[in-house]
Amino acid sequence: MGHKKLYLKTFGCQMNVYDSERISHVLAARNYRLVVNPSEADLIFLNTCSVREKPEQKVYSALGRYRAFKKKNSKLIIGVGGCLAQQEGEGFLKRFPHVDFVIGTKEFKRIDEILDDLEDSGKRSAATHLNGRVDPYASLPFSPSPSKVAAFVSIMQGCDNFCSYCIVPFVRGREVSRPSQEVLEEIRVLAAKGVKEVTLLGQNVNSYGKTKPGELDFAGMLKAVQEIAGIERIRFTTSHPKDLSRPLIEAFGRLPKLCEHIHLPVQSGSDRILKRMNRGYSGEEYLKKISRLRQSCPRIRITTDMIVGFPAEEEEDFRASLEMIEEIQFDDLFSFKYSDRPGTQATHFPEKVMEEVSQRRLTELQTLQRKITLKRNKAWEREKVEVLVEGRSKARAEDNMGRTRANHIVNFPGKPFAAGSLVTVKIQKAYAHSLRGESPQDSLPEDGNIVKRGKSVSRGKENL
Ligand code: SAH
Ligand code: SF4
Ligand code: F3S
Repeated sequence: MGHKKLYLKTFGCQMNVYDSERISHVLAARNYRLVVNPSEADLIFLNTCSVREKPEQKVYSALGRYRAFKKKNSKLIIGVGGCLAQQEGEGFLKRFPHVDFVIGTKEFKRIDEILDDLEDSGKRSAATHLNGRVDPYASLPFSPSPSKVAAFVSIMQGCDNFCSYCIVPFVRGREVSRPSQEVLEEIRVLAAKGVKEVTLLGQNVNSYGKTKPGELDFAGMLKAVQEIAGIERIRFTTSHPKDLSRPLIEAFGRLPKLCEHIHLPVQSGSDRILKRMNRGYSGEEYLKKISRLRQSCPRIRITTDMIVGFPAEEEEDFRASLEMIEEIQFDDLFSFKYSDRPGTQATHFPEKVMEEVSQRRLTELQTLQRKITLKRNKAWEREKVEVLVEGRSKARAEDNMGRTRANHIVNFPGKPFAAGSLVTVKIQKAYAHSLRGESPQDSLPEDGNIVKRGKSVSRGKENL
């Protein structure tokens, strides 16, 4: 019998990308294989996000498009998973008669049972239990396909921080760390399949292990991953500024495989707003952590998130955010207009900022950051950097494409390198979203200095 066809669409953050991968393994065991075209699918599965209004709207418009497929093929199954599914639960089935099942962020293991019911009796259902500190990945099949260079690995699920604007604790549940043995075994399997780079994922990775007596802490986890042969690069996301510990800051200077990039969301430069956001740090404290990071690892690339138009944000608060951007000179920044999320504290805050004010602030902030990003990228021109090749460039098929340790995209000409190769490339030109390198063979003397671990080190003296 032939395979059944699965179209899997992922919205939202890396956590959802990881979850989609795990779901595809569960479905592979049921004989589903991925296809790229939803119109030929037997099962369409949307892994959704509800962190802001925009991603939520994207899910609804995708669902609207798939209604027509169901009219053409009555046997088509449509399932919805992830954070918006968790948020809406049964409501999804009522509102969208063409949706067959809804599965929450901690119920992947029930996919089999749900699909059995659907196939046997056409019973539509919603499984959205969120109770307790349950590990949603325990005893799920893990069967990654070879040929990837970089992979995500979830190390913890949920969040206990309850920032006043954020839906994540409500849709991902309480913080729960996965057992380190399982995580490390997963990474060993990935390494054996050729993966060279892993990104450890959690909403708040710094508190890894805290709820489990005897478990490794996050710095310990990084050290353990460092020991895994075949893995060349380690990244992590996201760390919360209030929990960014000294051992973690120092790990950047010490652990050779830990890449020189940190995404450290600040959200606002105004203490008054940070307080209302329930972030647990002041602007001053954040600045201190940044300067310690730069002491520990001088060329570390620092990226952040900011929200504009948070309830009661005055012009003065917004100016404080701009000043912080000027002072820190972030390498890149993701900025968002505040939107109300159901059940969060901030929805009840009065003094909502008008849409046109938020929009103006967003535009101003993005204009400022664009200049800074370009300036920061330009500082890499003429440097020699280590690039992990991922494949061919999207824009120009004759070019190679890869990433630096600091996580810039680099396109460079020359002979095609195999995915997974580590190549030293001299940067020729910087743009806002990528760097352009020279062809490696004609630009590099063998004893060239390359930028590694945030410092220039002489090749041959590396202590890897
Ligand atoms: N766990 C991460 C980020 C999670 S959500 C952290 O702790 O920072 C990703 C980003 O979306 C956040 O950093 C924030 O900038 C933005 N965001 C979350 N909720 C939002 C809301 N209600 N309105 C606008 N932006 C929001
Ligand atoms: Fe949301 Fe705050 Fe948790 Fe990040 S730390 S997921 S912003 S509640
Ligand atoms: Fe979205 Fe859920 Fe991630 S709300 S940002 S997919 S944790």
